[in-house]
Amino acid sequence: ATPPVPPMRITFDARMEPSGPVLTRRMSDLRGLFADTAAWEAALAEDPVVYEVASSPVPEAEGELPQSITTIHPGRVGGEFHMTKGHIHPRPRGEIYLGLSGVGGLLLFDGDKPQWIPMEPGTIGYIPPGWAHRSVNTGDEPYRFLAVYPGDAGHDYDWVLRNGMGYRVLSGADGPLLRPF
Ligand code: PA5
Ligand code: NI
Repeated sequence: ATPPVPPMRITFDARMEPSGPVLTRRMSDLRGLFADTAAWEAALAEDPVVYEVASSPVPEAEGELPQSITTIHPGRVGGEFHMTKGHIHPRPRGEIYLGLSGVGGLLLFDGDKPQWIPMEPGTIGYIPPGWAHRSVNTGDEPYRFLAVYPGDAGHDYDWVLRNGMGYRVLSGADGPLLRPF
C-alpha cells in the first residue's frame, strides 16, 4: 500500500513545490500522433522537448487527488500544433484543468463526437468520465495548466492511438483550425 501523505501547501510558478516526479516528453515520444509523418521524422533530428509534466508528491491511489502542471512548448509539426499524447482514464473518473499561462485548448473525445475547449489563464476545463483528453498549445509562448484528478483514474494511451481524438488541431489563418479525422 502507498504510505499516506500529510496535508500540504503547494505553490507554483514555473515549478511546483513541493515537487514529485517530472516527466519530459520529447518529439521521439510522440510516434504515430502527428498526421505528417515526414515532418515528424524531420523533427527527430533535434528531438526537442514538446512538453513537461511536474507532479505534486501525491500518490496515484484511490481517494487521493494528485495534481500536475503541464507545460507545452510552442511549435508545430507539419502545421499541427504541439500537443500531449492524450489518454483516457480506464476507470470512469473526471478531471479538472485550470489554465495558468499561454493559450491552448483541451480536446475531448468520447469515441463519437469531439469537443474543443479553448483555454487561457483562468479557464477551468472539465473532463467528464469516459472522455479521452489531449492538450494543445495554439500560441507562440509556453502553454501551462494545472490538472487535478482522482488518484485511481489510470492512463490509457493506446486508446488514443487506436481511436484518434476526433480532430486534428492545425494552424490556420484566423487561429486554430479543427480538422476531422
Ligand atoms: O492528468 C492529466 O490528464 C494531465 O496531467 C496529463 O497527464 C498531462 O497533461 C500530460 O498528458 P499525457 O498524459 O496525455 O501525456
Ligand atoms: Ni487525465
